Parts: sequence; C-alpha cells; structure tokens
Amino acid sequence: MSVTIKSAREIELMRQAGKILASVHEELGKALCPGMSTMDIDRLGEKLIRSHGCIPSFKNYNGYPASICVSVNDEVVHGIPSKHRIIREGDIVSLDAGVIYHGYHSDAARTHAIGKITPEAEKLIQVTRESFFEGIKFAKAGNHLNDISSAIQAYAESFGYGVVRDLVGHGIGDHLHEEPEIPNFAQKRKGIRLMPGMTLAIEPMINAGRPDVVWMDDDWTVVTDDGSLSAHYENTILITEGEPEILSL
Ligand code: CO
Repeated sequence: MSVTIKSAREIELMRQAGKILASVHEELGKALCPGMSTMDIDRLGEKLIRSHGCIPSFKNYNGYPASICVSVNDEVVHGIPSKHRIIREGDIVSLDAGVIYHGYHSDAARTHAIGKITPEAEKLIQVTRESFFEGIKFAKAGNHLNDISSAIQAYAESFGYGVVRDLVGHGIGDHLHEEPEIPNFAQKRKGIRLMPGMTLAIEPMINAGRPDVVWMDDDWTVVTDDGSLSAHYENTILITEGEPEILSL
C-alpha cells in the first residue's frame, strides 16, 4: 500500500476520532496523581475511549496487552501498564493512545509532570512539544516530508537533546500505521511531496541525553540506553491547501 489521500468522508471521521482522543488525553492528564499505578491509568483511559463509542486501537495490536502506552522517566515509548508500577511526585509520564471511530484512527501522545519536577525535566517536555510545532510549520502541500523531519531534529538538537532514531511517525487512516514513515531526523532523500488529504501521525521522541535506545525483556518497553529522561509528543494531522489541521488537539 502507498500513501493515500483521504476523502471528505474519511477526513470527517478522522476529525471525530481526533477530537475524542484529545478529550481522552485531557481527562487523563487531569486524573494523574502520585500513588496511581500505570494500570490505573490504562483502565481509566480504556473506559474513557469506550465511553465515546470508540475502540482503543493499541489493545492487542501486534500483541500489545493494553489500551494506553504508559512510559515513565527513562522509558521512551510502549511502556506496558502494571499494577505494580506506581507513579510518584517528580516523575515524568508519557501517555500514548489511539482510538478507532467508525473504522478510522487517531493517534496522539503527551508527556506529563507528576507534581513538582526538576527544571531539566520541565524543559525536556516543553522542547519536545515545541519540536512538533517546529516540524509542522513545514507540513504544507508542496513541501517534502524531510522538511518536517529536519526541522524537528534541528530544533531538538539545538538544546543538546538526543533525537530517537529507532522509532518514527507514520501515515494513519483506516489503519494505525500507514505509509509513509516519518522520521524525526533528517534523511538524505527529500521524501514524498505532501498533498492535501494526507493524514500523518508526527511524533518526536526526544531524550535528555544520547539518542540511543534499547528494548526491555518484555519486548515492548523502549528505554534510553544512557538512563536519561525521555519525552514524547504526538498528534494526528491533516495536510490541507494551507496550514495543517491538527486533528487530535
Ligand atoms: Co504513532
């Protein structure tokens, strides 16, 4: 399958999927507090998703056992919720979620502070979020994919951070993962030309230290190799004739 252009009907369903996911993230952000287990977060997230008539797209995806990926501190992405993992004041917690609405997906991630965190952690979360917005300045018809990738990398690296290389963003639609792959770092090729109707999940994963990551024994949880903190920020966007539309905000 190649990169697809969504119809007006498909775009409308993805708008709904995005809007619902934005509200799920908002509710989860409000609910987070010290003493919660990462499984509590997953349970609440799944309940919220289903209460809107959606299906959690991650559940059982390639065997992933939960609805929300919960990744704490040096965990980059795909942390598996556990009743034994308790979040504490000072932690940073990345929540990644996907929903399916009438067959169409949205995918978004946020990193939250639990209570008071260090200024360094605060900065990492902020810059990761900003790197997404730097990237989508180039998410316009006629530009190329690499314009987005390069802008994200340049911004994050200007703060001395490490841009994760082993995981990338992706096209999205009636599947969670569609073409193209969307790296958060510059490519030698300029990549596809962006066209109105393309829907993309852009998701910088930024480490306070080196870019290198390793997989834990559960085969899902990705952690920084040097033990540094990591943050994640993702939205599903629509390429238009003008400014991109952020569907999951
Ligand atoms: Co994604």
